[in-house]
Amino acid sequence: MKVLAIETSCDETAVAVIDINDDFRSNQIADNFRPKTLSSVISSQIDIHAKYGGVVPEIASRAHIENINYVVDEALEVADIKGLANIDLIGATHGPGLLGSLMVGVSYAKALAFSLGLPYIGVNHLEGHLLASFLDRDFPPKLPALVLLVSGGHSILLRMTELGSYHLIAQTQDDAAGEAFDKIARYLGLGFPGGPAVDKAAQFGDSNKIKFPRAEIKGSMDLSFSGLKTAVIRYSKNNPEVDTVDISAGFQAAVVDMLLLRVKKAIDEFRSKTLIIGGGVAANSLLRKESESLALQENIDVIIPLKKDCTDNAAMIGAVAGFRYVKEGKSEFTDSVYSTLPLSYNNT
Ligand code: KG4
Ligand code: ZN
Repeated sequence: MKVLAIETSCDETAVAVIDINDDFRSNQIADNFRPKTLSSVISSQIDIHAKYGGVVPEIASRAHIENINYVVDEALEVADIKGLANIDLIGATHGPGLLGSLMVGVSYAKALAFSLGLPYIGVNHLEGHLLASFLDRDFPPKLPALVLLVSGGHSILLRMTELGSYHLIAQTQDDAAGEAFDKIARYLGLGFPGGPAVDKAAQFGDSNKIKFPRAEIKGSMDLSFSGLKTAVIRYSKNNPEVDTVDISAGFQAAVVDMLLLRVKKAIDEFRSKTLIIGGGVAANSLLRKESESLALQENIDVIIPLKKDCTDNAAMIGAVAGFRYVKEGKSEFTDSVYSTLPLSYNNT
């Protein structure tokens, strides 16, 4: 089954063609779920938004409209499947995200599906980051897995007990991890997007020079980055002579410690067999390095997508589209777009 997947929830116009293997279609067993990327094309708008220091929603939707035809054409060409005639399913991210941006991808996907007489399916972007860990692997992740999903909009810790079955353990009570990176980068004048800029600066800094607080919430595994953000801003105001590379390194070390402290507790408590890290912040060098050491120490597998696949792409959306379609069938054309769209948790 070939899936054409479209992702336009924020500032990347992304289109992919994914192949869902037939043995998974027939028995739906997680061990058989081996989605394969035939193409994954991303047209990033970073340069357009950089001068504003953040994503401007109106500009993002207009850029998606201008780009989408070209990106679809290229994804089909790279997949080498002789065009739309060989596509079986069309999926698009329907939330969470910027409404105007989502509307471009969803409307395009529905129009294409309608005109070709194909099923359409709306995909939850967060589930995309989770199932990215199944793409292009010889063996799927061993379950139960512990998943840390850290992006610009979300910081969630959950258990995946079965393919598609998620149990919430903790989430952020204020900023998402990526948002904290972006805000600190903006404050320190490091540019946009902030995560990669802080990551780069931190490589030249000393993370032991400044010890920022690692917040814990009594009786809860939840995260909170607002105290850390205030501490970094106050420190840098009061100590203008301290190099930004050291502040970046201290801040990054505090974020990674806060995340991995919870990850370790959860691995021990839930006896996870695999640690999966997803979302844009999974591209962070220190988080990658420290997660790998933690997994080694805990003697479990670790799956972190390649840096280029951590941030938004449509391959991960295609994997979910295929999985959900096989499991639950198509979405209606009346399906809408959703600025907030929680993952559905199975906490029974
Ligand atoms: O998953 P994503 O592309 O979009 C959302 O769904 O939000 O994540 C984007 C976020 C941004 O906040 C960006 O600053 C952060 O991921 N990010 C990083 C790194 N690369 C991207 N954060 C820390 N270190 C990085 N290397
Ligand atoms: Zn994302």
